[in-house]
Amino acid sequence: MIKPHGSDTLNPLFVYDTEKHHQLMHEAESLPTLMLNSAAAANAVMLGAGYFNPLKGYMNLADSLSVAENLHTTDGLFWPAPIMNLTQDISGIEGAKRIALRDPNTEGNPVMAIMDVDNIETITDEQIQGMAKEIFGTLDPEHPGVATFTSLGNHLISGKIQVLSFSYFQNDFPDTFRTAVEIRNEISERGWEKVVAFQTRNPMHRAHEELCRMAMERLGADGVVVHMLLGKLKKGDIPAPVRDACIRKMVELYFPKNSVMVTGYGFDMLYAGPREAVLHAVFRQNMGATHLIVGRDHAGVGDYYGAFDAQTIFDEKVPAGSLDIEIFRADHTAYSKKLDRVVMMNEAKDHEKEDFVILSGTKVRQILGEGIAPPPEFSRPEVAQILMDYYQSENG
Ligand code: ADX
Repeated sequence: MIKPHGSDTLNPLFVYDTEKHHQLMHEAESLPTLMLNSAAAANAVMLGAGYFNPLKGYMNLADSLSVAENLHTTDGLFWPAPIMNLTQDISGIEGAKRIALRDPNTEGNPVMAIMDVDNIETITDEQIQGMAKEIFGTLDPEHPGVATFTSLGNHLISGKIQVLSFSYFQNDFPDTFRTAVEIRNEISERGWEKVVAFQTRNPMHRAHEELCRMAMERLGADGVVVHMLLGKLKKGDIPAPVRDACIRKMVELYFPKNSVMVTGYGFDMLYAGPREAVLHAVFRQNMGATHLIVGRDHAGVGDYYGAFDAQTIFDEKVPAGSLDIEIFRADHTAYSKKLDRVVMMNEAKDHEKEDFVILSGTKVRQILGEGIAPPPEFSRPEVAQILMDYYQSENG
């Protein structure tokens, strides 16, 4: 099986030993406390689940700057985006060596991790802006990732963590949320060797479905792991339970049994386009996938990134040998009226633009809002129905 990133075995930071877990929860009661922001909490979930192997906790300033600038920590580990615990207020933890981290996204703010504080550093606005420019390629405050990143705070708390909960993900998505450890185990139990991961934050429309099918066929893969984002998205994106229902329905009806695992991970969308695509590759390698599909405008938003920047970054910024996982590059896929199926547009040489059915996400949201189903060339009818039910319930 493919090795995790940066180590021979996967080292999740979740404390699985029940007695130790109990002991740490007890210890946490008397420790100084820090309320995490959602981004730092999502990092804790990913660290706990093994997705961010081989990191042991939150990065310090030198590593964060180094990763933002040249995709390597100061020790030379390849890593595409800083994993930080930034905060605005350190009054409750100044001078503390060991602190309890609380979950901002669960009622009652339970403890989600214990941290050994190595350092509390001040990060200047210029440094934050410099990092944001490297990671997102823009400083436009309208960019949802930039807006979040630049508002997290100027205190950077670094150090190792022991994770005690997966936040709300296990409760809210018991059938879908999986750790990297669980996915690795399931891949191994199924005896899959060549495994394609599919990143998504959408209900899977026909283009998404066909991308999975094409990747599986062309690579001769044993199966696909659909790995959906279950954390926070920007306003207007479709909520995770609705996406989950759409994807499950589509897989049940249109894929051979046992060829697809439907899973999800607990992380907030960064909208960092190319950089996020590389982070996606790192954590899909950690969960045991040998390939990651990267298509058009992967992890993008608005028109901040070129349609295929998330593919070219793998040639330009990922030195050979940094990752074992490979990228399945997909051109823009669309339904061909001439051929009556979804194709990669660059492979349909004799087609004109009007031979394709192309709908933007905005257009689809608009027609759904009007109670109209997207056409069957765009969405499977059973998926369209789930989306229509959701939009109608939303619009009263
Ligand atoms: S993402 O933000 O998670 O990347 P989305 O769920 O829309 O968004 O896309 C999942 C994957 O499918 C990404 O790799 C994306 O590039 C790819 N993709 C989505 N739609 C198309 C399309 N029409 N043509 C090619 N690739 C696509």
